[in-house]
Amino acid sequence: MGKTSAKSSLIEVSSQPLTFHLHNSQVSYVLGVENEKILAHHYYGKAVEHYSNLRRYPRLMRHFAPSPEEIETRDFSLSTLPQEFPGAGGADYREPGIVVQFPNGSRTVNFTYDSYTITAGKPQLTGLPATFAQEDEAQTLTVKLVENDAHLELDLSYTIFRDLPVITRSSRVKNLTDQPVQIERLVSFSLDSPDNELNLLQLNGRYAQERNVTIEPLNTGIKILDSKRRASGHTQNPFCALVDPHTTEFSGEVFGFALIYSGSHKSVIQMDGYNQVRVQMGINDQNFEWWLEPQQSFQSPEAVLVYSDHGLNAMSQSLHDLFLNNLMKSKYAHQTRPILLNNWEATYFNFDEKKLQEIISSSHELGIEMFVLDDGWFGERDAANSSLGDWVVDRKKLPNGLKPLSDYCHQLDMKFGLWFEPEMISVKSKLYQAHPDWVLEVPGQLRSIDRSQFVLNLGRAEVRAYLLERMSYIIDHAELDYLKWDMNRNLTEVYDAQLSASEQGEVAHRYILGLYALLESLTDKYPEILFESCSGGGGRYDAGMLYYMPQTWTSDNTDAIARLKIQYGTSLVYPVVSMGAHVSAVPNKQTGRMTSLKTRGLVASSGNLGYELNPLDLLENERQEIKLQVKWYQAHRRLIQFGKFYRLQNPFETTRTAWMFVSDDRKEAVAMYFDIFSEASTPLHMLNFVGLEPKQKYSVNGEYTAYGSELMQIGIYPLLQNEGDFASAVFELKAVEE
Ligand code: DGJ
Repeated sequence: MGKTSAKSSLIEVSSQPLTFHLHNSQVSYVLGVENEKILAHHYYGKAVEHYSNLRRYPRLMRHFAPSPEEIETRDFSLSTLPQEFPGAGGADYREPGIVVQFPNGSRTVNFTYDSYTITAGKPQLTGLPATFAQEDEAQTLTVKLVENDAHLELDLSYTIFRDLPVITRSSRVKNLTDQPVQIERLVSFSLDSPDNELNLLQLNGRYAQERNVTIEPLNTGIKILDSKRRASGHTQNPFCALVDPHTTEFSGEVFGFALIYSGSHKSVIQMDGYNQVRVQMGINDQNFEWWLEPQQSFQSPEAVLVYSDHGLNAMSQSLHDLFLNNLMKSKYAHQTRPILLNNWEATYFNFDEKKLQEIISSSHELGIEMFVLDDGWFGERDAANSSLGDWVVDRKKLPNGLKPLSDYCHQLDMKFGLWFEPEMISVKSKLYQAHPDWVLEVPGQLRSIDRSQFVLNLGRAEVRAYLLERMSYIIDHAELDYLKWDMNRNLTEVYDAQLSASEQGEVAHRYILGLYALLESLTDKYPEILFESCSGGGGRYDAGMLYYMPQTWTSDNTDAIARLKIQYGTSLVYPVVSMGAHVSAVPNKQTGRMTSLKTRGLVASSGNLGYELNPLDLLENERQEIKLQVKWYQAHRRLIQFGKFYRLQNPFETTRTAWMFVSDDRKEAVAMYFDIFSEASTPLHMLNFVGLEPKQKYSVNGEYTAYGSELMQIGIYPLLQNEGDFASAVFELKAVEE
């Protein structure tokens, strides 16, 4: 039997049959133990007050559906039962949640219910980033399953948050035998749902075009969304959602799933012959194996299950709230972020102290609050083909080191930030000469090189110790306020010569655990530093990274028009304040497109604003415009970075994009509207605001007033006349007295 160590207000337990109902005012999740001791899934969706066992799976004879030998019945089979965590090799022919290889070669494993505990708050996951909660903010149900024949224990963890339609799940398996066993797959969660017409929404992409929103109907069969890159990757974000075909931004059901993990991941969406749907998410099991010694456990990453019955926008807002309040551990999670100027597109590798001082001084005149020195300040880094790993200042470019630049910024009351790419090594480096064995490679086999660099094996403690020492030295000496952590290639030839042949399946996950350990050490040691993660732009934009680093460089594509889609797609999951968004020069370096400074400013001001251009190259009228942009953003920064974010018009469906930010008290809002193509005799499109107080009167750009209900129901004509392609408009709404 189980025991309850906290008042079970969010988790109701009923006996006969034993059923657990996790619920708050927004969501219900029900699981229960069948007579056959299998942990079955009952319900996940809109909150219900009570659960009266209506979804107990019917006893029904199916052909070709084996039953447990000890039950003399043909009306119960694992092959159809909705389960909480399916085993492998038995009667369930659908995707397994766990695969284990035993010493006798068997891969058959089936778990039955053993016991449960309920605790207040949420336990942390050792070595892995995960959501956290105060004791009164969440409750956690842990259900213990056992594999009696094979002597394994499986703990399934379910946390329900009091104020969010969110359940987080993870799984942990323990070896109770006296011999090692090998885990070949352990998903973070498995979720079965009944026959239902559903669409699958996913965020796919490529370098410089990340997180495209793609929706398709679900059909019988298996759909896999994955990354085998040992990084979450540009190509497939570790997120997907099942949505009702009629769901819009503001209505309809959505079941969203996000994985808190930064390595190779896999989501499996399977619809069986009875149209029942199974969703699983976790570490990618390709080339994955993990030895479990006797009494050892293996913990899966955590996954977030988010529910909305008010469309995609409500789902995004729930995820944004969760990530800001219960995932980002940085002290900056709730602090407004400085407007930065990054010198990458301004200078690339070509700079010296004087040039940088001029850029800093000119940025300061524009009102910019932080200068970030990007790639090229260390070793002999004049191009991308050398010096990664040599985290020593290049005295040819910066004879006096970094300190004078940092001091200069601080004298001007600006902050100073620096770029690192800690996980990489160039062959042309002192580090490589000293430690060629630190590289991930298969001895005797040809290696893959990318951007002239290889990957350090972060699974090795001495590699992490070296990086911690080098980075700490630079951070201390240069008195950094900000650190950009880049990663410009994905892993290949993942092998560790220090491990045995049978342990090689562990290397990729050990790398991620090593990466997390290094990030944990650095972020704990330097809580005052604002960290920004990056991987060739948004190649590792995931919840695992957000745990350590509260902002991410969204994409290397700084083209304002391309950014509309990228930022729109990103906002489905990740908070606005986490999205680094920079104004760059035109013609744009990635697309060659010309866009107005106004449009570039508004697109970048829709995220965490920065500039990525040489201020010395600006014309006087551009300087004046940027000064105004900076002032405008400062005045609206809290609203944009922490207000409620609403997507209004979808760039994946039309040539127009619109979104808005509304303050929590609904007294203030800003909407932005972008029209990509200018047309003669253009049809008139409406812009309807959302999230306002219906009975409140608002002034619109100080030009006229209207009630919230009118602005939302009737809308306005966002006229952009003869402004050419890529035009934009901003609407500032302020509550006014009658
Ligand atoms: C890729 C990043 O996304 C860019 O912003 C820049 O930091 C370069 N790397 C530098 O090599």
